Amino acid sequence: MAKERRTWEKRLSGKPDKLTLGFVESLSYDKRLYKYDIVGSIAHAQMLAEQKLITKDEFKKIKNGLIEISEQIAAGRFKFDEQNEDIHMAIEAALIAKIGQAGEKLHTGRSRNDQVATDIRLWMRDEIEILRAKITLLQKAFVKLAGKYTDDIMPGYTHLQRAQPIVIAVYLLSFVEQFERDCIRLKNCNDLLNVSPLGSGAIAGSTLPIDRKSTAKQLGFHDISYNTIDAVGDRDFCAEFIFDCALISAHLSCLAEDWIIFCSNEFEFVRLDDSFCTSSSLMPQKRNPDILELIRAKTGSVYGALIAMLTILKGQPSGYNRDLQEDKVHVFTAADTVEACLDVAEAIVSTANFNIEKISSSLDEGFLDATALAEYLVTKGVAFRQAHGIVGKMVADCEKQNKKLHDLNLEELKKHSAYIEKDVYEHLGCEKVIAKYVTDSAAGSRQAKRQIAYWNDKLAKR
Ligand code: ARG
Repeated sequence: MAKERRTWEKRLSGKPDKLTLGFVESLSYDKRLYKYDIVGSIAHAQMLAEQKLITKDEFKKIKNGLIEISEQIAAGRFKFDEQNEDIHMAIEAALIAKIGQAGEKLHTGRSRNDQVATDIRLWMRDEIEILRAKITLLQKAFVKLAGKYTDDIMPGYTHLQRAQPIVIAVYLLSFVEQFERDCIRLKNCNDLLNVSPLGSGAIAGSTLPIDRKSTAKQLGFHDISYNTIDAVGDRDFCAEFIFDCALISAHLSCLAEDWIIFCSNEFEFVRLDDSFCTSSSLMPQKRNPDILELIRAKTGSVYGALIAMLTILKGQPSGYNRDLQEDKVHVFTAADTVEACLDVAEAIVSTANFNIEKISSSLDEGFLDATALAEYLVTKGVAFRQAHGIVGKMVADCEKQNKKLHDLNLEELKKHSAYIEKDVYEHLGCEKVIAKYVTDSAAGSRQAKRQIAYWNDKLAKR
């Protein structure tokens, strides 16, 4: 049992139960908001001084005290007292202990409700920058790897079945596109969340002349929120942020899945660096892609965080409810998990190699040139549906005879369609097909090189 009630709980009788203290505290995990809490408090105090609600001298004391506390926390010298249930109370109590009376004025016209809503937005703005930087590093690793393979062909898969030939570079650049959307989504999230709830108080603002625009400006918010009830209860941005993290995880999990398959003995398309593989405690020959498997699995935690956050928001009464304290658990989980996954993904991509010999040795399998042959017939005047049928039949015949399309001589080919001429051989085989791709952003070498130039230019500016 705690010795006595805390200063902000004078209206309660008896002592707080130990179980209560342990259950309601968030200090153990919202400690990490300390810098944002302090920055927010300094802005608030400066505004109080501007509004003559405290003196300049009191502001100076508050500011210096808060900076000292910040330094103590950063250096690990701050003693967190579990009596203070969250970072806001811990810092305020420390300030009062340090500077006395002036410290008691800091919370004027402010509630923890608008304070925490401000802190989490400030934290998220920085976190979004960190995530965007990490995504950019991963994109750069992909672009660099793609640069090595602009002329090397691999099978493109649909339904995990061989479909059409592509250059490896274009396959790698497909991830750059996905992560680019993630980057944009995070920026959009930032644009939406970047309004200041500070000064909304507990729910209704204040009878004191609190200047919300001043604190918003000091803290770099582009505007203030325009409804105090909504401002203290709004955690839409938390759900949105976690959703953005969830899609990043989904994209990483697809990369992981591809490469787990690609580095199996059955494929041997990709070779991961030894430093990113693990072995088996029993089977001495094993070289396992555990990191990729864990990236794939961690998607579960991020999706879990999203569902948890959405569930917290469902059916909440208007204004602030303590439920909202749990937002941080899930927002931090999502951010930490995605940060870690982006770091290892970047390391893996930077050190990976494609096994060109192995990939090219089987390019003749799977009739990757069949679609191009049908399109060849189209150029000769055959309707596409007809051409599709003709080539389908040719493939079936080839399969029976264990032949490839380009193994058929002109006479055999002509049996399937009189439109086929000698120039058909310019359209058969993966290399020929790749050279024939003409659509914008198709999977050929020319297009890949253009895209690489585009990304190098764009990513260098970030
Ligand atoms: N620790 C709380 C949170 O994270 C701070 C706000 C508490 N407000 C209150 N009225 N109890 O949401």
